[in-house]
Amino acid sequence: MHVKNLLSLKNKVILITGGAGLYGSSMLEALAEADGKVITASRSLENAKTIVDEMKSRGLDVHAKYVDQADHASIIRLKDEIQAEFGGLDIFINNAVARPMRKYTDPLEAFAESMRVNATGMFDITREMADLIAKRGGGTIINIASMQGMFGADFKLYEGTEMDSPPDYHFHKGGMIALTKYLARKLAPQKIRVNCISPGGLFSNQPEPFLSRYKNKVPLGRMAGTDDIKGLIVFLASDASSYINGENILMDGGLHA
Ligand SMILES: NC(=O)c1ccc[n+]([C@@H]2O[C@H](COP(=O)([O-])OP(=O)(O)OC[C@H]3O[C@@H](n4cnc5c(N)ncnc54)[C@H](O)[C@@H]3O)[C@@H](O)[C@H]2O)c1
Repeated sequence: MHVKNLLSLKNKVILITGGAGLYGSSMLEALAEADGKVITASRSLENAKTIVDEMKSRGLDVHAKYVDQADHASIIRLKDEIQAEFGGLDIFINNAVARPMRKYTDPLEAFAESMRVNATGMFDITREMADLIAKRGGGTIINIASMQGMFGADFKLYEGTEMDSPPDYHFHKGGMIALTKYLARKLAPQKIRVNCISPGGLFSNQPEPFLSRYKNKVPLGRMAGTDDIKGLIVFLASDASSYINGENILMDGGLHA
């Protein structure tokens, strides 16, 4: 097959959670630019609608839905809506994240709330969407983890700022990478490939001195930009990666090379 056809997402129905976020909106745009029919679902429906309306005005086939991935009934409602309106699902991008814990010293309740959304809820929505994909005869799931799920934080980067790298985040992102490998084997008989992307930090006007310190550590000399994940997400979603299964791709500009 021609490589342009391998990379095309034409006739594919794609769900991305949290598609109004920073990395999420880049991936939403990329998947639609590759000709996919892309639904974003998140807890902030108004933000999702604003982004979707802007992309629709550029001719992209994008749709906004509500989901709270910590609420099983809400996941089932979304699943039913996708089946009824789009006839099923081919590709699921597990991107939403909640950040109730900000610091190591935050109360345990914040850690538990993080697990409710980012561990239990994340597994719940993945299992339900995998079921939709299986009914359609197969497809692919891509988990968006983080380099923080693979490596410990360099706390010196945050000195003199309000920033920190909270422990719940390392815990559930590490779990997501392990779950990727589990699901790659579990779902392969249903013709579902499962892969993971572990991005590095995305530039979003972080304060100095964090920014200079971080850039100095990265061999490419910069934080990730919004275009950096676009090719990778389309590649993993498409048939161009049809023999890649259970892989975790680190995208950090060489920070951990
Ligand atoms: N921004 C970075 O530097 C960075 C670096 C590495 C990895 N990541 C990962 O990339 C992904 C996207 O990150 P981002 O910074 O763009 O995220 P973000 O914080 O900008 O957006 C997160 C999205 O998740 C949604 N969300 C939160 N709780 C939800 C719930 N209970 N149900 C449904 N939706 C919910 C929010 O509405 C929002 O749209 C995340 O998985 C994140 O961990 C981000």
